[in-house]
Amino acid sequence: MFLTNVRHKLTIRMRRFSQVVCSISLVHLYSTKSPIQVEFTTQDGKVLNLLGKDQQSVMEVGRDAKLDIEAACDGTCACSTCHVYVDPTWYGKLPTPTDDENDMLDLAWGFQEGKSRLSCQLVLNPELNGLKVKLPDQTSNQLSST
Ligand code: FES
Repeated sequence: MFLTNVRHKLTIRMRRFSQVVCSISLVHLYSTKSPIQVEFTTQDGKVLNLLGKDQQSVMEVGRDAKLDIEAACDGTCACSTCHVYVDPTWYGKLPTPTDDENDMLDLAWGFQEGKSRLSCQLVLNPELNGLKVKLPDQTSNQLSST
């Protein structure tokens, strides 16, 4: 009887232990995120493939790589100096711009329907791996023009 109770308790503990190990492995698996590639074409035509992280904005990826992106409002959707042209093959895969982004895009230098987006509002996720954007020749800072 004693040995049966000990065996039963050991079996339960082993099951719990394997459940914990299994959950830890799954958490590790889903938290290990691969870098997300973004192709930037600069104002002078250079093509650069940069790596970003899940939930990082496209603006942050470009600015961290010292590209010529002013981002005067630091990503608060208030300046339009992070304006980019999204490759037409990618534009439709992006979330629809918010009203605030559209308001800023209306004021952006060189706005192009079906291409223009604010890179601070483009948040990376694995589905955007390979996203292609081009930096416009100029930007207009709506923070300084108010
Ligand atoms: S950084 Fe200002 S609107 Fe994007």
